Amino acid sequence: MSEEATTTHPIPAGFENAHATPESYKRMYAESISDPNGFWGREGKRLDWITPYTKVKDTDFTTGQVSIKWYEDGVLNVCVNCVDRHLPERADQVAIIWEPDDPATPARQITYAELSDKVNRMANVLLSQGVMRGDRVVIYLPMIPEAAYAMLACARIGAIHSIVFAGFSPDALANRINDSGAKVVITADTAPRGGRRTALKSNADKALLHASDKVRCLVVKHTGDQTTWVEGRDVDVLALMEQVSPDCPPRPMNAEDPLFILYTSGSTGKPKGVVHSSGGYLTFAAMTHEYTFDYHDGDVFWCTADVGWVTGHSYIVYGPLANGATTLMFEGVPTWPDAGRFWEVCDKHKVTQFYTAPTAIRALMGQGTEFIEKHDLSSLRLLGTVGEPINPEAWVWYDKYIGKGKCPIVDTWWQTETGGHLITPLPGAIPTKPGSATLPFFGIKPAVLVPETGAPIEGNPAEGVLCIADSWPGQMRTVWGDHQRFEETYFQQYPGYYFTGDGCRRDEDGYYWITGRVDDVLNVSGHRMGTAEVESALVAHPKVAESAVVGYPHEVKGQGIYAYVTLMNGVEPSEELRKELEAWVRNEIGPIAKPDLIQWAPGLPKTRSGKIMRRILRKIAENDYGALGDTSTLAEPAVVEDLIENRMNRG
Ligand code: WT7
Repeated sequence: MSEEATTTHPIPAGFENAHATPESYKRMYAESISDPNGFWGREGKRLDWITPYTKVKDTDFTTGQVSIKWYEDGVLNVCVNCVDRHLPERADQVAIIWEPDDPATPARQITYAELSDKVNRMANVLLSQGVMRGDRVVIYLPMIPEAAYAMLACARIGAIHSIVFAGFSPDALANRINDSGAKVVITADTAPRGGRRTALKSNADKALLHASDKVRCLVVKHTGDQTTWVEGRDVDVLALMEQVSPDCPPRPMNAEDPLFILYTSGSTGKPKGVVHSSGGYLTFAAMTHEYTFDYHDGDVFWCTADVGWVTGHSYIVYGPLANGATTLMFEGVPTWPDAGRFWEVCDKHKVTQFYTAPTAIRALMGQGTEFIEKHDLSSLRLLGTVGEPINPEAWVWYDKYIGKGKCPIVDTWWQTETGGHLITPLPGAIPTKPGSATLPFFGIKPAVLVPETGAPIEGNPAEGVLCIADSWPGQMRTVWGDHQRFEETYFQQYPGYYFTGDGCRRDEDGYYWITGRVDDVLNVSGHRMGTAEVESALVAHPKVAESAVVGYPHEVKGQGIYAYVTLMNGVEPSEELRKELEAWVRNEIGPIAKPDLIQWAPGLPKTRSGKIMRRILRKIAENDYGALGDTSTLAEPAVVEDLIENRMNRG
């Protein structure tokens, strides 16, 4: 590895006046741990409260009674905090810069005044459809400003939004509509991406066949493409927004009222609805946005995620807008019309903070530097990454070619469940090491436990599973409709701790290095995918008898999806069937779940009690046969040899 990849990078020049300095980080961190009530009591005041809270932290990680409450007697409105309260000073400041898929289409600059108008109208549209406080609204939209309007409109009237990534299939959408019990789905005619169009409305139509016929479908006519129209069910949102009043009184909400549900994959079963709160979540999203990205007035902040993921919730919409920031929303992809698109957009809008995923960096690294050199990147002050461990080679490339050696790189570790950054460098306070998310954010108490015993490992270095020893305001509150699953998933295995599902190493300097999931969750291009979900999609195919899915190292995606498939008796494997299964999974879940490799497996390695031994399958997928471990408990050891032979044959 190169020297840059293994050395510590000092705090770059220009960050002397950052929100956090080395001294203030140490002091504030110590206080946040010794006096969480005092610390978060002050930080909560970054929001405007209708009724100020008198209680700050009330949390309990004890299984059987897990309860997480922050600011529990406070009353506020999240939309007011992201929009209305900025109007006296920032009415004409740009809130959202929208950059469309096609660079030939003009970008839009939405001021706070305009944002307020649109959000109020959208809120009145929702009210006109009978949406009330506590009702669920599924949002299935492209990356267009209407997605942000819809989120904030829900917050304004106290409805709970649940965004479904526009790349998910009709089936996945239907499951989320039904699990959340949504009254309304907001979608668009079609979604342009990379010059192609996804038929979102048509997907929603298919999904709604499997939902209650009371669910209304609000359609944003974005491209003007033709769609079917169901009278009485479908509503033209933009037309109705013109007709309703531009004033919608915000509803006072309790700090603990749910703001949104976001479905995410776990190691077992169907995706779970992660529930986030209003007061605690927004405090944490706003504070992390300000500190991690060292956001100052006048900056242009760009997070390239999709609002369908938590990153888009916290760092395109809620964090930036709570801070009165200018946030950029991009409809397109990094590689269309060419591999310079990100850099073109940075140049065009004079982006100051740029936040993306390692998979995008790896994809662009391979494209040559001529796509970068065409654009002026001198506005950039800070770079960030999220979603998966960044390999040092990609870190060094990002630093050299995009940051020109002058921008700190914040490698932010967090999860859908955590609401915001938990382990991350603060640019003016913490020197970085390529591949390490460095040190905990304020109020975060990471613990490295021995996986088998759950004993915390004191001292450095340490290696084990990553847990968090106490609550923080942005923590998820429950699994929608299933509090028991919440407790079982996160609090049962290591009593007294929140279990992250990640493994990690803590080095001599106390820096954290995330080593990846220790459960059956895959991270494909920064997208989270449960192996069980892909397996159940595969076995739903009439020709498939059994399947086991594992991850394997993939150069660009980080992890690829490796599916072992046992066919029904009498069905012959073929190239055609392989394609059919790939298409099947795309259809069942979405393109992000398509297996990268399918290996026909006449049998799967199982214990005598019938449990599939994934450890062995993982090793075979990784081409690592030396370390198969103990195979003596296998019911039929010959199965393994057969699988290895076939794996080897495919090179
Ligand atoms: C999982 C959470 C948080 C928003 C995007 C993903 C992995 C996330 C990092 C990082 C190493 C990371 C972890 C985590 N992860 N960020 N900086 N370094 N790993 O959210 O879909 O809930 O996935 O992503 O494995 O558990 P998510």
